[in-house]
Amino acid sequence: MKIAVIGTGYVGLVQGTCLAESGNDVVCIDKIAAKIEGLKQGKIPIYEPGLAELVHRNTRDGRLTFSTDLAAGIADAEIIFVAVGTPQADHGGADLSGVWAVGKQIAESLTEPKVIVIKSTVPVGTNAELARRMAESTTIPFDVANNPEFLKEGAAIEDFNKPDRVVVGVRRPEVAETLHELYAPFLRTDRPFLVMSPESAEMTKYVANCLLATKISFINEMANLCEAYKADVNDVRRGIGHDQRIGFHFLHPGVGYGGSCFPKDIRAVIHMAQSRGLPARMMEAVDEVNEAQKEVLHSKLASHFKDGLRGKTIAVWGLAFKPRTDDVREAPALVLIDALLRDGAHIRVHDPEAIANVRDLYGDKLTYCDRPYGALEEADALVIATEWNEFRNPDFDVMIRLLRSPVVFDGRNVFDPERMAELGFTYYGIGRVAPGSGAEADRQA
Ligand code: UDX
Repeated sequence: MKIAVIGTGYVGLVQGTCLAESGNDVVCIDKIAAKIEGLKQGKIPIYEPGLAELVHRNTRDGRLTFSTDLAAGIADAEIIFVAVGTPQADHGGADLSGVWAVGKQIAESLTEPKVIVIKSTVPVGTNAELARRMAESTTIPFDVANNPEFLKEGAAIEDFNKPDRVVVGVRRPEVAETLHELYAPFLRTDRPFLVMSPESAEMTKYVANCLLATKISFINEMANLCEAYKADVNDVRRGIGHDQRIGFHFLHPGVGYGGSCFPKDIRAVIHMAQSRGLPARMMEAVDEVNEAQKEVLHSKLASHFKDGLRGKTIAVWGLAFKPRTDDVREAPALVLIDALLRDGAHIRVHDPEAIANVRDLYGDKLTYCDRPYGALEEADALVIATEWNEFRNPDFDVMIRLLRSPVVFDGRNVFDPERMAELGFTYYGIGRVAPGSGAEADRQA
């Protein structure tokens, strides 16, 4: 099929590339000329495992092209995907200006009937409103459908190629048939293609993210409670997870969720509820718990260093909001860094992929280290803010030698508290208190 994808962010670029990889003829369109120029030369604007190779191969083979010319790009396309950003607006809801602008351009360029599919996460009613607005600019018939994207950063290619389900929101069954044809190669036999109204499809995406974020805030609140009562949240998680109604997924306590989706989507849902005069008590609580959880590491540091953090050197491993991405949007590590800078601490940071993005934000306020051990030199403590795999099995002897004092604040429960205490570390986890650990000592003080 001939496909146009508008917007070359995470969703658009992965969508376009994976559709090209399955034999379609895809043009990815973006108004940012520098981005398109870079992509034409094989420069991928984001770090996503496996993506660069796929872009290079499909560009070389001519199935994937890049353009800034929307009108020319969509001229031959049977399906036009809209994957532009919908960032948080000042009112807390989603800023849809990108969607409206692209819709207008599409409508003005239409020369024959087309299917326009919204991939961006959009508030319920956007599909209908886009169709209404486009109809003002054209007399040519068109369809607007919704096809929410559920992929996770860091596993985007895998998620796209093996979706748990595909959801499409359509007004006409023929549009669902066209989309089914496109997605059939990716659907394993036991995975459904779910057809519903655009409103339900739009809602599905928000409800999925709300529930996932709720699970995280829930386990974080329980972890803090475990810690206060000397229970181990890991054991508790094992204790509840075997109950089939509960399960293990997405119940890892940590330093709060970040990224480009959960924080903004939860606030968009709160805004959607308020716009209809409905309460959004649970989502408000989920957001509030998450904001507080992002402060947890700093509180632990502040109560450990009784003489204050001014002049202390703190090493931070992990800056991205999660492993296998260079994305630092709403990353908990940044909340910690801001607080430590206010305290007057020196900060030495390491991340396998996100250093360049953090340098753009903080310039020379931080010391950037290419290697994890480099960050530890003369540091008074190590903080782990992102659970990259390369942090899981470090040489603890080297760590003890490099650190000025062997104190570890483990925001992702990467290490075992008892083992760390045995190795001679003062150790703080999330929701885990081992005898002899830092948290235990603080409690007794
Ligand atoms: C999320 C959704 O999973 C995805 O379906 C949607 O399309 C976009 O938003 P993403 O933001 O890429 O994807 O990352 P995800 O793996 O879901 O993690 C989000 C945040 O939650 C991260 O900061 C992660 O560290 C945190 N998290 C996740 C936890 O703290 N505990 C968990 O158990 C799971």
